[in-house]
Amino acid sequence: MGKKIRIAILYNQPVTGSVEGRKYVAENGKLQSELSGRRNGKQAKTNGRYETVDISEMGVLEEMEDIKCALNALGYRATTFNVDSDIFHLIDVLRGEKPDLIFNLVECVENDSDQEMNVAGLYELLKIPYTGAGSLTLGIALDKPRVKEILAAHGIRTPRYQVFRMKDKIELDPKLSFPVIVKPSREDASVGISDDSVVYSPADLRKRVRYIHSEFKQPALVEQYVEGREINVAIMGNKKPVVFPISEIDFSGLTADMHRIVSYDAKWMQGTVAYVGTQGVCPARLSPEDETAMKDIALRCYRIIGCRDYARVDIRLAKNGTPYVLEVNPNPDISDDAGFARSAKAHGLAFNQVVGKIVEYALERCH
Ligand SMILES: Nc1ncnc2c1ncn2[C@@H]1O[C@H](COP(=O)(O)OP(=O)(O)O)[C@@H](O)[C@H]1O
Ligand SMILES: [Mg+2]
Repeated sequence: MGKKIRIAILYNQPVTGSVEGRKYVAENGKLQSELSGRRNGKQAKTNGRYETVDISEMGVLEEMEDIKCALNALGYRATTFNVDSDIFHLIDVLRGEKPDLIFNLVECVENDSDQEMNVAGLYELLKIPYTGAGSLTLGIALDKPRVKEILAAHGIRTPRYQVFRMKDKIELDPKLSFPVIVKPSREDASVGISDDSVVYSPADLRKRVRYIHSEFKQPALVEQYVEGREINVAIMGNKKPVVFPISEIDFSGLTADMHRIVSYDAKWMQGTVAYVGTQGVCPARLSPEDETAMKDIALRCYRIIGCRDYARVDIRLAKNGTPYVLEVNPNPDISDDAGFARSAKAHGLAFNQVVGKIVEYALERCH
Protein backbone atom coordinates (compact mmCIF):
# COMPACT_ATOMS: atom_id res chain seq x y z
CA MET A 1 0.00 0.00 0.00
CA GLY A 2 1.24 3.49 -0.80
CA LYS A 3 1.75 6.29 1.63
CA LYS A 4 -1.30 7.12 3.65
CA ILE A 5 -3.19 10.23 2.63
CA ARG A 6 -2.90 12.77 5.43
CA ILE A 7 -6.06 14.59 6.34
CA ALA A 8 -6.17 17.48 8.79
CA ILE A 9 -9.56 17.97 10.41
CA LEU A 10 -9.89 21.67 11.14
CA TYR A 11 -12.57 22.75 13.58
CA ASN A 12 -13.44 25.36 16.21
CA GLN A 13 -13.21 24.44 19.86
CA PRO A 14 -16.18 26.15 21.54
CA VAL A 15 -14.83 28.81 23.86
CA THR A 16 -16.15 30.64 26.82
CA GLY A 17 -15.78 34.36 27.10
CA SER A 18 -17.85 35.04 24.08
CA VAL A 19 -19.91 32.83 21.89
CA GLU A 20 -20.80 33.91 18.38
CA GLY A 21 -20.25 37.51 19.24
CA ARG A 22 -22.32 37.34 22.39
CA LYS A 23 -20.57 38.01 25.65
CA TYR A 24 -20.51 35.67 28.58
CA VAL A 25 -19.41 36.79 32.03
CA ALA A 26 -18.26 34.94 35.12
CA GLU A 27 -20.81 34.87 37.89
CA ASN A 28 -20.66 32.83 41.10
CA GLY A 29 -17.74 30.90 39.70
CA LYS A 30 -19.75 29.91 36.67
CA LEU A 31 -19.90 31.53 33.31
CA GLN A 32 -23.36 32.79 32.54
CA SER A 33 -24.95 34.62 29.69
CA GLU A 34 -24.76 38.33 30.26
CA LEU A 35 -28.43 38.62 29.48
CA SER A 36 -30.57 37.09 32.14
CA GLY A 37 -33.42 34.88 31.17
CA ARG A 38 -31.70 33.78 28.02
CA ARG A 39 -31.54 30.09 27.52
CA ASN A 40 -29.40 28.90 24.73
CA GLY A 41 -26.36 27.57 26.46
CA LYS A 42 -25.86 24.57 28.66
CA GLN A 43 -23.48 23.76 31.47
CA ALA A 44 -20.58 21.81 30.09
CA LYS A 45 -17.76 20.48 32.24
CA THR A 46 -14.38 21.43 30.85
CA ASN A 47 -11.14 20.95 32.76
CA GLY A 48 -13.04 20.31 35.95
CA ARG A 49 -14.81 23.66 35.74
CA TYR A 50 -18.37 24.26 34.70
CA GLU A 51 -18.70 26.69 31.90
CA THR A 52 -21.64 27.88 29.90
CA VAL A 53 -21.16 27.45 26.21
CA ASP A 54 -23.41 27.52 23.24
CA ILE A 55 -24.11 23.84 22.75
CA SER A 56 -24.90 24.35 19.11
CA GLU A 57 -21.14 24.79 18.89
CA MET A 58 -20.36 21.90 21.22
CA GLY A 59 -21.81 19.54 18.64
CA VAL A 60 -18.82 20.11 16.41
CA LEU A 61 -16.51 18.45 18.97
CA GLU A 62 -18.39 15.18 18.86
CA GLU A 63 -18.60 15.45 15.11
CA MET A 64 -14.85 16.03 14.89
CA GLU A 65 -14.04 12.96 17.04
CA ASP A 66 -16.40 10.75 15.04
CA ILE A 67 -14.89 11.94 11.76
CA LYS A 68 -11.38 11.28 13.03
CA CYS A 69 -12.28 7.70 13.97
CA ALA A 70 -13.99 7.20 10.62
CA LEU A 71 -11.00 8.53 8.67
CA ASN A 72 -8.55 6.33 10.57
CA ALA A 73 -10.80 3.32 10.03
CA LEU A 74 -10.88 4.15 6.33
CA GLY A 75 -7.08 4.01 6.18
CA TYR A 76 -6.31 7.74 6.13
CA ARG A 77 -4.00 9.42 8.59
CA ALA A 78 -6.13 11.95 10.42
CA THR A 79 -4.96 14.77 12.64
CA THR A 80 -7.05 17.49 14.25
CA PHE A 81 -6.42 21.18 14.66
CA ASN A 82 -8.44 23.75 16.54
CA VAL A 83 -8.71 26.99 14.61
CA ASP A 84 -8.85 29.79 17.14
CA SER A 85 -7.93 33.44 16.83
CA ASP A 86 -4.29 32.87 15.89
CA ILE A 87 -4.39 32.71 12.12
CA PHE A 88 -0.60 32.93 11.81
CA HIS A 89 -0.38 29.78 13.90
CA LEU A 90 -2.85 28.11 11.55
CA ILE A 91 -0.75 29.12 8.56
CA ASP A 92 2.44 27.82 10.24
CA VAL A 93 0.81 24.48 11.05
CA LEU A 94 -0.55 24.05 7.54
CA ARG A 95 2.80 24.94 5.98
CA GLY A 96 4.61 22.60 8.36
CA GLU A 97 2.25 19.65 8.18
CA LYS A 98 1.35 20.05 4.52
CA PRO A 99 -1.76 17.87 4.76
CA ASP A 100 -2.98 16.30 1.54
CA LEU A 101 -6.50 17.42 2.37
CA ILE A 102 -8.36 19.49 4.93
CA PHE A 103 -11.62 18.19 6.36
CA ASN A 104 -13.20 21.56 6.93
CA LEU A 105 -15.44 21.92 9.97
CA VAL A 106 -14.48 25.53 10.67
CA GLU A 107 -17.46 27.82 11.09
CA CYS A 108 -15.89 30.95 12.53
CA VAL A 109 -12.79 32.69 13.79
CA GLU A 110 -12.97 34.31 17.21
CA ASN A 111 -16.67 33.48 17.18
CA ASP A 112 -17.17 35.60 14.12
CA SER A 113 -18.96 33.50 11.51
CA ASP A 114 -18.27 36.12 8.82
CA GLN A 115 -14.73 34.70 8.83
CA GLU A 116 -15.88 31.20 7.90
CA MET A 117 -15.50 31.99 4.21
CA ASN A 118 -12.12 33.62 4.71
CA VAL A 119 -10.66 30.51 6.33
CA ALA A 120 -11.71 28.54 3.25
CA GLY A 121 -10.14 31.33 1.18
CA LEU A 122 -6.93 30.81 3.09
CA TYR A 123 -6.89 27.10 2.16
CA GLU A 124 -7.27 28.20 -1.45
CA LEU A 125 -4.40 30.64 -1.18
CA LEU A 126 -2.23 27.96 0.41
CA LYS A 127 -3.36 25.58 -2.36
CA ILE A 128 -4.54 22.91 0.05
CA PRO A 129 -7.65 21.04 -1.11
CA TYR A 130 -10.50 20.94 1.37
CA THR A 131 -13.86 19.26 1.82
CA GLY A 132 -17.20 20.88 1.26
CA ALA A 133 -18.26 24.21 -0.12
CA GLY A 134 -15.91 26.88 -1.42
CA SER A 135 -15.48 30.23 0.24
CA LEU A 136 -17.97 32.15 -1.90
CA THR A 137 -20.75 29.65 -1.24
CA LEU A 138 -20.01 29.67 2.48
CA GLY A 139 -20.21 33.45 2.49
CA ILE A 140 -23.45 33.58 0.54
CA ALA A 141 -25.16 30.86 2.54
CA LEU A 142 -24.52 32.72 5.78
CA ASP A 143 -26.54 35.65 4.52
CA LYS A 144 -30.14 34.39 4.55
CA PRO A 145 -31.73 37.39 2.79
CA ARG A 146 -29.08 37.15 0.05
CA VAL A 147 -29.82 33.47 -0.48
CA LYS A 148 -33.52 34.28 -0.75
CA GLU A 149 -32.84 36.95 -3.37
CA ILE A 150 -30.71 34.56 -5.42
CA LEU A 151 -33.23 31.73 -5.22
CA ALA A 152 -36.09 34.09 -6.09
CA ALA A 153 -34.14 35.24 -9.16
CA HIS A 154 -34.13 31.58 -10.23
CA GLY A 155 -37.87 31.23 -9.66
CA ILE A 156 -37.56 29.20 -6.48
CA ARG A 157 -40.13 30.04 -3.82
CA THR A 158 -39.00 31.09 -0.39
CA PRO A 159 -41.33 32.62 2.24
CA ARG A 160 -42.10 36.33 1.69
CA TYR A 161 -39.83 38.44 3.80
CA GLN A 162 -38.67 41.76 5.09
CA VAL A 163 -35.34 42.73 6.63
CA PHE A 164 -35.09 45.17 9.54
CA ARG A 165 -31.73 46.82 10.09
CA MET A 166 -30.91 48.53 13.36
CA LYS A 167 -32.38 51.93 12.58
CA ASP A 168 -35.34 50.85 10.44
CA LYS A 169 -38.87 51.66 11.48
CA ILE A 170 -40.38 48.37 12.57
CA GLU A 171 -43.58 48.17 10.59
CA LEU A 172 -44.80 45.12 8.71
CA ASP A 173 -44.79 45.36 4.93
CA PRO A 174 -48.42 45.06 3.68
CA LYS A 175 -47.24 42.17 1.45
CA LEU A 176 -46.81 40.14 4.62
CA SER A 177 -49.46 39.25 7.18
CA PHE A 178 -49.37 37.98 10.74
CA PRO A 179 -48.25 35.53 11.92
CA VAL A 180 -44.66 36.05 10.85
CA ILE A 181 -41.44 34.53 12.17
CA VAL A 182 -38.54 36.74 13.28
CA LYS A 183 -35.03 35.30 12.87
CA PRO A 184 -31.45 36.47 13.00
CA SER A 185 -30.36 37.02 9.39
CA ARG A 186 -26.89 35.54 9.83
CA GLU A 187 -27.08 32.63 12.25
CA ASP A 188 -27.73 28.94 11.92
CA ALA A 189 -28.49 25.86 14.01
CA SER A 190 -31.72 27.48 15.27
CA VAL A 191 -29.74 30.02 17.28
CA GLY A 192 -32.14 32.83 18.21
CA ILE A 193 -35.25 30.77 17.38
CA SER A 194 -37.80 30.07 20.11
CA ASP A 195 -41.54 29.77 20.41
CA ASP A 196 -41.63 33.57 20.79
CA SER A 197 -40.12 33.96 17.32
CA VAL A 198 -43.57 33.55 15.79
CA VAL A 199 -45.43 36.81 16.35
CA TYR A 200 -49.02 37.85 15.83
CA SER A 201 -49.09 41.59 16.49
CA PRO A 202 -47.14 44.76 15.65
CA ALA A 203 -46.14 45.12 19.31
CA ASP A 204 -44.69 41.59 19.49
CA LEU A 205 -42.99 42.11 16.13
CA ARG A 206 -41.22 45.22 17.44
CA LYS A 207 -40.22 43.40 20.61
CA ARG A 208 -38.76 40.43 18.81
CA VAL A 209 -36.96 42.47 16.14
CA ARG A 210 -35.37 44.58 18.88
CA TYR A 211 -34.37 41.39 20.68
CA ILE A 212 -32.56 40.16 17.55
CA HIS A 213 -30.83 43.53 17.15
CA SER A 214 -29.65 43.74 20.74
CA GLU A 215 -28.75 40.11 21.21
CA PHE A 216 -27.20 39.29 17.85
CA LYS A 217 -26.08 42.69 16.56
CA GLN A 218 -27.36 41.95 13.07
CA PRO A 219 -30.41 42.64 10.91
CA ALA A 220 -33.59 40.72 11.70
CA LEU A 221 -35.15 38.62 8.97
CA VAL A 222 -38.93 38.55 9.19
CA GLU A 223 -40.64 35.88 7.11
CA GLN A 224 -44.18 34.89 6.42
CA TYR A 225 -44.82 32.02 8.82
CA VAL A 226 -45.46 28.89 6.78
CA GLU A 227 -47.80 26.58 8.64
CA GLY A 228 -47.19 23.05 7.48
CA ARG A 229 -44.73 20.19 7.24
CA GLU A 230 -40.96 20.58 7.43
CA ILE A 231 -38.66 18.47 5.34
CA ASN A 232 -34.90 18.17 4.89
CA VAL A 233 -33.30 17.08 1.66
CA ALA A 234 -29.74 15.78 1.85
CA ILE A 235 -27.57 15.77 -1.26
CA MET A 236 -24.08 14.46 -1.98
CA GLY A 237 -21.79 14.68 -4.96
CA ASN A 238 -20.68 17.06 -7.65
CA LYS A 239 -20.92 16.07 -11.28
CA LYS A 240 -23.99 13.95 -10.69
CA PRO A 241 -25.21 14.78 -7.20
CA VAL A 242 -27.30 12.12 -5.48
CA VAL A 243 -30.42 13.17 -3.57
CA PHE A 244 -31.08 10.96 -0.54
CA PRO A 245 -34.49 9.89 0.76
CA ILE A 246 -36.29 12.88 2.24
CA SER A 247 -36.37 13.35 5.99
CA GLU A 248 -39.23 15.05 7.86
CA ILE A 249 -39.58 16.60 11.28
CA ASP A 250 -42.55 15.10 13.06
CA PHE A 251 -43.95 17.80 15.36
CA SER A 252 -46.77 15.67 16.76
CA GLY A 253 -45.09 15.38 20.17
CA LEU A 254 -45.38 19.12 20.82
CA THR A 255 -48.17 20.44 23.00
CA ALA A 256 -51.03 22.31 21.30
CA ASP A 257 -49.77 25.71 22.45
CA MET A 258 -46.34 25.26 20.83
CA HIS A 259 -45.45 26.34 17.33
CA ARG A 260 -44.49 23.60 14.91
CA ILE A 261 -40.91 24.82 14.46
CA VAL A 262 -37.39 23.57 15.15
CA SER A 263 -36.53 26.02 17.92
CA TYR A 264 -33.18 26.16 19.71
CA ASP A 265 -34.62 23.95 22.46
CA ALA A 266 -35.98 21.50 19.89
CA LYS A 267 -32.55 21.16 18.32
CA TRP A 268 -30.30 21.16 21.35
CA MET A 269 -31.96 21.06 24.77
CA GLN A 270 -32.32 17.36 25.46
CA GLY A 271 -35.17 16.46 27.76
CA THR A 272 -37.32 19.49 26.95
CA VAL A 273 -40.81 19.02 25.49
CA ALA A 274 -39.55 20.83 22.38
CA TYR A 275 -36.65 18.39 21.96
CA VAL A 276 -38.61 15.23 22.66
CA GLY A 277 -41.59 16.43 20.65
CA THR A 278 -39.70 17.03 17.39
CA GLN A 279 -38.53 13.76 15.91
CA GLY A 280 -36.83 13.22 12.59
CA VAL A 281 -38.50 10.64 10.37
CA CYS A 282 -37.02 9.17 7.22
CA PRO A 283 -38.20 8.49 4.62
CA ALA A 284 -40.93 11.12 4.82
CA ARG A 285 -44.38 10.01 3.68
CA LEU A 286 -44.86 12.01 0.52
CA SER A 287 -46.73 11.34 -2.69
CA PRO A 288 -44.38 10.36 -5.53
CA GLU A 289 -45.14 13.70 -7.23
CA ASP A 290 -44.34 15.73 -4.09
CA GLU A 291 -41.19 13.72 -3.50
CA THR A 292 -39.95 14.30 -7.03
CA ALA A 293 -40.81 18.01 -6.82
CA MET A 294 -38.98 18.45 -3.47
CA LYS A 295 -35.91 16.63 -4.70
CA ASP A 296 -35.86 18.68 -7.85
CA ILE A 297 -36.13 21.98 -5.95
CA ALA A 298 -33.43 20.94 -3.49
CA LEU A 299 -31.07 19.93 -6.27
CA ARG A 300 -31.61 23.22 -8.04
CA CYS A 301 -30.83 25.09 -4.81
CA TYR A 302 -27.68 22.99 -4.35
CA ARG A 303 -26.44 23.98 -7.78
CA ILE A 304 -27.56 27.62 -7.67
CA ILE A 305 -25.86 28.32 -4.33
CA GLY A 306 -22.79 26.41 -5.50
CA CYS A 307 -22.73 23.64 -2.90
CA ARG A 308 -20.04 21.00 -3.15
CA ASP A 309 -19.61 17.44 -1.86
CA TYR A 310 -22.59 17.54 0.53
CA ALA A 311 -25.37 19.85 1.66
CA ARG A 312 -28.87 19.91 3.12
CA VAL A 313 -31.82 21.95 1.93
CA ASP A 314 -34.67 22.72 4.37
CA ILE A 315 -38.16 23.17 2.97
CA ARG A 316 -41.57 23.95 4.50
CA LEU A 317 -44.51 22.43 2.73
CA ALA A 318 -47.51 24.75 3.15
CA LYS A 319 -50.94 23.30 3.88
CA ASN A 320 -51.94 23.88 0.23
CA GLY A 321 -48.95 21.82 -0.89
CA THR A 322 -46.71 24.71 -2.00
CA PRO A 323 -43.07 24.13 -1.08
CA TYR A 324 -41.07 27.06 0.33
CA VAL A 325 -37.32 26.76 0.69
CA LEU A 326 -36.20 27.92 4.15
CA GLU A 327 -32.48 27.64 3.69
CA VAL A 328 -29.57 25.94 2.01
CA ASN A 329 -26.93 24.48 4.33
CA PRO A 330 -23.52 23.83 2.78
CA ASN A 331 -21.29 21.64 4.99
CA PRO A 332 -24.21 20.51 7.17
CA ASP A 333 -23.81 18.62 10.42
CA ILE A 334 -23.24 14.96 9.52
CA SER A 335 -23.39 13.66 13.10
CA ASP A 336 -25.37 10.53 13.65
CA ASP A 337 -28.38 12.25 15.22
CA ALA A 338 -28.72 14.96 12.58
CA GLY A 339 -31.02 15.03 9.55
CA PHE A 340 -28.25 14.47 7.04
CA ALA A 341 -27.16 11.16 8.59
CA ARG A 342 -30.77 9.99 8.80
CA SER A 343 -31.23 10.45 5.07
CA ALA A 344 -27.83 8.94 4.27
CA LYS A 345 -28.73 5.87 6.33
CA ALA A 346 -32.02 5.50 4.48
CA HIS A 347 -29.96 5.60 1.29
CA GLY A 348 -27.81 2.79 2.71
CA LEU A 349 -24.79 4.81 3.76
CA ALA A 350 -23.39 4.46 7.27
CA PHE A 351 -21.53 7.36 8.90
CA ASN A 352 -18.07 6.09 7.89
CA GLN A 353 -19.20 5.77 4.29
CA VAL A 354 -20.50 9.33 4.29
CA VAL A 355 -17.15 10.57 5.59
CA GLY A 356 -15.35 8.47 3.00
CA LYS A 357 -17.44 9.86 0.18
CA ILE A 358 -16.92 13.48 1.25
CA VAL A 359 -13.17 12.85 1.18
CA GLU A 360 -13.30 11.13 -2.19
CA TYR A 361 -15.28 13.98 -3.73
CA ALA A 362 -12.82 16.52 -2.35
CA LEU A 363 -9.80 14.51 -3.51
CA GLU A 364 -11.22 14.49 -7.04
CA ARG A 365 -10.57 18.25 -7.08
CA CYS A 366 -6.86 17.67 -6.49
CA HIS A 367 -6.17 16.71 -10.07
N1 LIG B 1 -40.87 31.06 7.35
C1 LIG B 1 -40.96 30.07 8.22
N2 LIG B 1 -42.15 29.45 8.44
C2 LIG B 1 -42.26 28.46 9.35
N3 LIG B 1 -41.24 28.02 10.11
C3 LIG B 1 -40.04 28.60 9.93
C4 LIG B 1 -39.83 29.63 8.98
N4 LIG B 1 -38.53 30.01 9.05
C5 LIG B 1 -37.96 29.24 9.99
N5 LIG B 1 -38.85 28.39 10.53
C6 LIG B 1 -38.58 27.40 11.59
O1 LIG B 1 -37.41 27.77 12.29
C7 LIG B 1 -36.37 26.80 12.12
C8 LIG B 1 -35.02 27.48 11.96
O2 LIG B 1 -35.04 28.38 10.87
P1 LIG B 1 -33.94 28.41 9.74
O3 LIG B 1 -34.28 29.50 8.82
O4 LIG B 1 -33.78 27.05 9.15
O5 LIG B 1 -32.67 28.82 10.56
P2 LIG B 1 -31.37 28.02 11.05
O6 LIG B 1 -30.31 28.46 10.10
O7 LIG B 1 -31.14 28.52 12.42
O8 LIG B 1 -31.65 26.54 10.95
C9 LIG B 1 -36.79 26.01 10.89
O9 LIG B 1 -36.25 24.70 10.92
C10 LIG B 1 -38.31 26.03 11.00
O10 LIG B 1 -38.80 25.06 11.89
MG1 LIG C 1 -32.38 25.41 9.29
